[in-house]
Order: sequence, then structure tokens, then C-alpha cells
Amino acid sequence: MNDRDIAAVGNKNPEEHSVLLDCCGGLNNLDYSKMDLTLMQELMKCINLRDSNFCIAVLAIFFNPLFWNVVARWEHRTRRLSRLFGSAYLACYCLGFVIILLNVYRSHSMTVVMKSQARWDVLERTEVFYAGAALIVLGTVLVVSSFLALGFTGTFLGDYFGILMDDKVTGFPFNITDNPMYWGSTANYLGLALIGASPVGLVLTAFVAVVYSVAITFEGPFTEQIYAERIHHSKHE
Ligand SMILES: *[C@@H]1O[C@H](CO)[C@@H](O)[C@H](O)[C@H]1NC(C)=O
Repeated sequence: MNDRDIAAVGNKNPEEHSVLLDCCGGLNNLDYSKMDLTLMQELMKCINLRDSNFCIAVLAIFFNPLFWNVVARWEHRTRRLSRLFGSAYLACYCLGFVIILLNVYRSHSMTVVMKSQARWDVLERTEVFYAGAALIVLGTVLVVSSFLALGFTGTFLGDYFGILMDDKVTGFPFNITDNPMYWGSTANYLGLALIGASPVGLVLTAFVAVVYSVAITFEGPFTEQIYAERIHHSKHE
């Protein structure tokens, strides 16, 4: 059989072909006037929401920012962690380490779900694959450069421990987005979902984006308040 024969066999019955590919086929009958709705429905059909691994991943996505905001605000209010560890720096390093572990666990739980659930044939394209790879490069650049710009304590909520930066960091990547760590990490997850042609990966990435947006609305004003207090204190000294 030459290439043309194989292509002919592949095209003989497109409907059957896509059903054979995976459970997420069936777009051959697509009515393009209802494209958005149909795509959303197709997407939701491909996802098993009752999968316990999916629930674990969703919990991890919600829990992580909640955890570090609650702990860091408690520290800011009571200084209990600094006292427990005998130093604000040590306490911040420990919290940072726990946050890293939690985020590794979140990434792992998301990867498990993406691998175990169906792929989506709409995403099985070279362009989508390269877009995913580009997003991962972009996300990694944002995450690494913001870590280098902020340092460990600046990245891991040092200001809540009283470890303040001398100046607001305004250089790259903070001249592109105010929260490069969060959007970089979201870009990485979106990239992974696209590379894996994973519909459930897209849904989990959307959760990450929503949770980070909410976290930003809590963290932004609080951090500004911490720095405003410092200016206030230094004026009185
Ligand atoms: C951000 O800063 C970098 C390095 O300082 C610079 O090369 C880049 O053009 C800046 N980007 C924007 C959008 O200002």
C-alpha cells in the first residue's frame, strides 16, 4: 500500500475514523454557525468530572493560594512563624519551601488527570502543539526572570514577614505584567494542556487562572498596605 492508499482508507469513512481515534471525535458533523456552543459541548463531553483525580487536582488548585495567603497574613498579624523559627528569614524560607512542594504536588496532580483522561482531536494539530511549546517557553521565562528579579524572599511573601524590598521592582518581567509569576505559571499549564491535546487540561488551566485572579485581588492591596505602613513608620522615626 502506498501513501495515497493509506490516505484513501483514512478518508473512506471520516465519522468512523474519528470515533476510532478517541471518544472526543464527532466534529465532522459540525454546524459552523453553532461552532462556539458545539465546541464547548464537545469539550465538556470529553471530560470526566467524576474522576477522583480530577477532584484532587481541583482541590490542589484552590488550596494552594488559599494556604499561602492565610499563613502569610497570620504571620503578618502575629509574627508567630518568625518567633517559632527564631528568624523572619528562616520562617520565610520554610514557608517558601512548603509552597514549592505544594505547587509541585499541584502540577503532578494536574499531569495525572491530563494523562488519564481522553485527548481531544480538535487539538491534535501541529500548530496547537507549537503554540503549546511557545507558551511553555514564555511561561518559563516569566517565572524564572521574576524569581531572579525578586529573590527567594521577594518571591515567597517575604514582605509579610517584614522582609521588605528596598524598591518596587519595575524592570523585566514586571514591565510586562504586574504578576509574572502567576501568569507565567498559568501559561505553562495552558502549554502543557495544548501539547497533550487535553480538554481536561484546558478546564484545569481555567481554574488556575480564576484562582490566581482572585488571589491577586487579595494580595495586591495587602502588599501595597504593607509598604505604605513602612513609609508611614519611617516618617515618624
Ligand atoms: C521591559 O524591560 C526590558 C529590559 O529592561 C526591555 O528590553 C523591554 O523592552 C521592556 N518591555 C516593555 C514592554 O517595556
